[in-house]
Amino acid sequence: MALPLSPRIRATQTPPIPAVRGWAARYDGRAGPVLDLTQAVPGYPPHAELLAHLAEAAGSRAAAGYGPIDGDPALRAALASDMARFYGAPVATEDVAVTSGGNLAFTMAMTVLAGPGEAVMLPTPWYFNHRMALSALGIPCVPLACRAEDGFIPDPDRAATLMQGVRAIVLVTPNNPTGAVYPPEVIARFAELARAQGAWLVLDETYRDFLSAAQSPPHALFADPAWRDGVVHLYSFSKA
Ligand SMILES: Cc1ncc(COP(=O)(O)O)c(C=O)c1O
Repeated sequence: MALPLSPRIRATQTPPIPAVRGWAARYDGRAGPVLDLTQAVPGYPPHAELLAHLAEAAGSRAAAGYGPIDGDPALRAALASDMARFYGAPVATEDVAVTSGGNLAFTMAMTVLAGPGEAVMLPTPWYFNHRMALSALGIPCVPLACRAEDGFIPDPDRAATLMQGVRAIVLVTPNNPTGAVYPPEVIARFAELARAQGAWLVLDETYRDFLSAAQSPPHALFADPAWRDGVVHLYSFSKA
């Protein structure tokens, strides 16, 4: 008989994607074709040259060992310069650490930022993996309700009334699941609120590359060198 799991783990929801794919599999097509939006994965494979390069790199001797703890220096430098270009602000190689995916980066950030009894604020509806990570780590979540009438843009004034015990505010923009793109002034106000309350701002911009030229740069946080004392930025290669 399996040993019982802790109540914390038993209370952690499972990803909804298999259930939704189950509905799609049972759907009879009566109302038209199904568009699978459960995961932001392009319907076409990466460029053949990129795949060939990855295959070659995977077969190299270097790929068979441990790498530097913060990630491959060349990759960190390339990402830092790409971020500096995208945000129009200085981002250094030392600012970047590489993990095996954005979900691991979030879990690591939460492990570091929130201790026992300290809470993390998530606007609703949230990205299910963020909620799962907090639940599995035993970190209480303070939901910040976002309304359809507001285009699912979170309200910094409402957040300010809920900051008791909050060690980090998590924003996802462009948002999963709502698609809302938070205006730069809203992001700036959350950064101010977090700073004033001694909390971290964790900004997940996994969907950054979905923005149009007119929506870029999406915020000016990196223009203030003090961002390093209060902002954790998350990005993933899995969408781009
Ligand atoms: C907001 C958000 N952050 C992070 C991730 C996960 O990124 P990765 O695939 O790199 O773990 C996703 C994937 O769907 C996401 O929607």
